[in-house]
Amino acid sequence: MAANSSTVWQRGRVVELRDVAQNIRRVVIEPESPVRAAPGTHVDIAVVVNGERDVRSYSVVESDDGGTRLALSVFRTPASRGGSVFMHGLDEGDDVELTQPMQNFPLRVGAARYVILAGGIGVTAVLGMARVLARLGTDYRFVYAGRSREGMAYLDELSAEHGDRIEVHVDAEGTPLDVASLVGGLDPGTELYMCGPIRLMDAVRRAWQDAGLDLPNLRYETFGNSGWFDPEEFVVRIPRLGLEAVVPKHRSMLEALEAAGADLMFDCRKGECGLCEVDVMELTGDIDHRDVFYSERQQEASAKMCCCVSRVITAKSTPHPGAGRAIVSIEVS
Ligand code: FES
Repeated sequence: MAANSSTVWQRGRVVELRDVAQNIRRVVIEPESPVRAAPGTHVDIAVVVNGERDVRSYSVVESDDGGTRLALSVFRTPASRGGSVFMHGLDEGDDVELTQPMQNFPLRVGAARYVILAGGIGVTAVLGMARVLARLGTDYRFVYAGRSREGMAYLDELSAEHGDRIEVHVDAEGTPLDVASLVGGLDPGTELYMCGPIRLMDAVRRAWQDAGLDLPNLRYETFGNSGWFDPEEFVVRIPRLGLEAVVPKHRSMLEALEAAGADLMFDCRKGECGLCEVDVMELTGDIDHRDVFYSERQQEASAKMCCCVSRVITAKSTPHPGAGRAIVSIEVS
């Protein structure tokens, strides 16, 4: 059961499609009941995966003042759970079901300095913030990291827009981002807004704590679909309910449990709110924690997990990882 009962759904029409990087397509939608989309907002879109209705969240990359045109950008991942395949299959003129813009990642105006940090497709969540900071004449840096230039959406536009305030790091060119030096060089009054893969955000969180910086000044948005390990099929059991479900690679544990008839609480579906928390009773394998809700210590304890994003894998220490299926028994409240 979703905790967010105030979500407003509406129809919208796809009016523009354009590839903006390798495997990244810009999708512009005109919603039926437009409202303003502030930087940091996202919309949920009803997608069809394996013939079933499902929901995916996408950041609003750009919008006009009235929110009559919402531009999203969708990365088609090799390990997609099916949402990005659906989105890449849309044609101009198609109708979609979407929510009004929702805000979980607001930009706070008034800080002494800002760093906007984007990793790969994470740029979609922070691009609008950087634009606002530039317009307000604030002291900001825009750090954009990716594996290759071909895979970095809007790179040319952003370089032209932000001039010497943008700093680009490209793994393939031998200029990867050095998180320790980025965070280590920040003044205490700096607010950092980031979005990117879980590895990058985890590294920044640790460096932030090591540097003794104020935690409220570190703000982030997640996608909830990138983990430390490749997804594997695994088995989840709820012994009290006599329920067992197989979680395929392309599905989340939450989705598999819902399909099996379990009634679970959730909200963000991105590993941020902790509402989908389950207790781990027994585990054959390891947990690939993909949330940003738990502390490092809580994740290491593996007594709980966020079932909307975290997965179970065959033990990292086995000589042949992937052999057999990992199994987790859980209890839900
Ligand atoms: S629903 Fe928010 S962390 Fe899972």
